[in-house]
Amino acid sequence: MGVTKVADPSALFDRQREHLFFTWSAQRDVLPLTIVEAAGPRFRTLEDGWLWDLESQVYNVNVGHGHAHVKARMVAQIGTLPAAAPNAVLPIRAELGALLGARTGLHRAFLTTGGSEAVENAIKIARLVTGRSKIITRRNSYHGATLAALGVAGDVRKLPFARDLAPAYHVDDPYPWVDETPSSWVRNLTATLEREGPETVAAVLLEGFTGTNGMQPPPPDFWPQAHALCSAHGVLLIDDEIFSGFGRTGRWFAHEHFLAGAMPDMMVIGKGLTSGYAPLAGVVVSHAIAEHFERNKLWCGLTTYAHPVSCAAAVGAIEALDRDGLIDNARARGEQLGGRLRALVRSLEVVVDARGLGLMWAVELNRPAAPLHALYRERGAYVPYRDQTLFVCPPLCVTAADIDAIVDLLAAGLRMA
Ligand SMILES: Cc1ncc(COP(=O)(O)O)c(C=O)c1O
Repeated sequence: MGVTKVADPSALFDRQREHLFFTWSAQRDVLPLTIVEAAGPRFRTLEDGWLWDLESQVYNVNVGHGHAHVKARMVAQIGTLPAAAPNAVLPIRAELGALLGARTGLHRAFLTTGGSEAVENAIKIARLVTGRSKIITRRNSYHGATLAALGVAGDVRKLPFARDLAPAYHVDDPYPWVDETPSSWVRNLTATLEREGPETVAAVLLEGFTGTNGMQPPPPDFWPQAHALCSAHGVLLIDDEIFSGFGRTGRWFAHEHFLAGAMPDMMVIGKGLTSGYAPLAGVVVSHAIAEHFERNKLWCGLTTYAHPVSCAAAVGAIEALDRDGLIDNARARGEQLGGRLRALVRSLEVVVDARGLGLMWAVELNRPAAPLHALYRERGAYVPYRDQTLFVCPPLCVTAADIDAIVDLLAAGLRMA
């Protein structure tokens, strides 16, 4: 296993900090996290020692750290051809295309370097295909950090730019929802479509299972009715599986839990596509949309389109998910994790709710989660959080014993909160 040698950690932090930004932070508030090695579901920092990686880095290292097969695939591609023009024909591109077709059930992919860029291209494709412009999303949603992706979603990360963004069209999605038919989410989607005029709506864009906006399971009628409404009005249904895809929820894609065999028109993928071993994301489209671009120009492109080393990482990661049985493992370990987290709601006053799917869980507290994040770092876990919610999203290679150790550690911290 490779270990990064660091002579003077605080000098390294200062040197990096001087010339490179850290994301989503006032720079002076960033605390050092010097990662020197990583294996399976954990990584080691100079500041904390070994930590359970409950953010899977950025919810992307699905196969776990240091996976030999993914690395071997990348090394082989680096040896063969590490750089190539976007339209070059390469065996690794054909291989990934076939795998994506088989795994997603959709037909053809446009590959980008990151998820936000993939969402941008999904919006462009929806507009090109329908000739309409509006994109409807859920209020509790995040679809990326670029301006169009921020604009369409409801997430607070849009706020500093809100004044200059194109208008957004949101479906109110209160949680917890009342068990009624049609659900309020469906009524709100119907009303939004009617209000805007479906003939002006290019797409409804939904996270397969909502990530950092709360991991709220949808009412059972929401996905089927969203699909039916879109079909009835010629609106495209875009499923954003960037967070929830590639086994995270215990299925290849989260919509499989909700859509009972029906398919979205497009899927946006990223993160777990390469398990974070190289930058790659994309939009995968139905046969009908692919057919549209046989005659009409696809006005989309980028320099590092379908980067060969990233394609190799994706092929390796998809093979690893299959070979290691990681999706079944995510489902089984998710049930174990969910059962234990729900027990904490019953036994600890500080825990208000625990909800999730597979290895994608949110634990809502009755107080801010930041102090617990700091405590857990001292005690052996890196636990992402937002406001009053902790997230528990380990790599899919966790064992039953790992889950027990993780929840014991979480519970001990919560008892001290
Ligand atoms: C649901 C969803 N969509 C889009 C994105 C944007 O992806 P990226 O950060 O790779 O640009 C994210 C990232 O967290 C996400 O969770």
